[in-house]
Amino acid sequence: MKVAVLGAAGGIGQALSLLLKNDLPAGSELSLYDIAPVTPGVAKDLSHIPTDVAIEGFAGEDPTPALVGADLVLISAGVARKPGMDRADLFNVNAGIVKNLIEKVAAACPKACIGIITNPVNTTVAIAREVLKNAGVYDKNKLFGITTLDVIRSETFIAEAKGLKATDIKVNVIGGHSGVTILPLLSQVQGVEFSDEEIASLTTRIQNAGTEVVEAKAGGGSATLSMGQAAARFGLSVVAALNGKQGVVECTYVDAGSEHAEFFAQPVLLGKNGVEKVLPYGDISAFEQTALTEMLDTLKGDIQKGVDFV
Ligand code: NAI
Repeated sequence: MKVAVLGAAGGIGQALSLLLKNDLPAGSELSLYDIAPVTPGVAKDLSHIPTDVAIEGFAGEDPTPALVGADLVLISAGVARKPGMDRADLFNVNAGIVKNLIEKVAAACPKACIGIITNPVNTTVAIAREVLKNAGVYDKNKLFGITTLDVIRSETFIAEAKGLKATDIKVNVIGGHSGVTILPLLSQVQGVEFSDEEIASLTTRIQNAGTEVVEAKAGGGSATLSMGQAAARFGLSVVAALNGKQGVVECTYVDAGSEHAEFFAQPVLLGKNGVEKVLPYGDISAFEQTALTEMLDTLKGDIQKGVDFV
């Protein structure tokens, strides 16, 4: 299995690459690419870790050498938020970066699964779809927006609020990956009771958790280490499923014929060809139903912006 990380010299890319070097199955290949000249050095640095994962690094204008033969491409290339910005403010720069990189993916490894981290995810994933369609290689089962950070934040914050072990918490987060489009289904969390006030405040905290990090880093960027962990969890799940592991489920933003929007994050069973089956997200509370209804104009607008861009 070969995994390529595009944007590998960045805050997320380096954390993600470290986790993948440690945790990919023995015999895997890891390929790092970034425009930053330091990238071969990042790969050299990681190559001294004694795991049976081969690693190479590529810099410069063309990602193709990193992409040839890739089974999974994870993309975190782009600019990150600074205080006062929301994810939509990143659109002008990141849309072009994702478009160019996906054109290269379409040519070099058209059958690879693609996981997009670069924000605004609600829009960049739609851009990727349009580029892949134009290249005649689009497979909706192989394109994912990575929303796992919303899931791990939910697990952590619920455990903190209720004095539980974070590793015991399982929660679905549906919708998209920005502000009100992030909807954690707290009513479904097993063995936990929340008051209405707790539900409202936890939901808002999960939706704004990225801003907590942006403000705490005071101009030094957005979430990189927790996002590295989230992307590694998602990427390792995809690799395990591609390798034939059964029953691998992650919430992710996919083009799955949702009744709500063209792209929608929900639990997905992963398999040897990417999406095996989109799973129902189950019963939701009246609060969650209202939040779902109210997010849809924003989510659909974000998706349309990506389609219009291409
Ligand atoms: P960063 O600035 O530390 O790293 C970005 C990297 O992308 C840099 O190394 C830069 O050289 C590289 N890059 C820029 N243009 C490129 C191109 N055309 N080809 C290849 N590499 C290129 O930023 P960070 O913190 O790693 O964030 C990356 C992206 O991830 C941002 O868009 C950010 O908003 C997003 N993000 C997504 C999250 C999610 O939950 N999906 C969570 C946190 C951040």
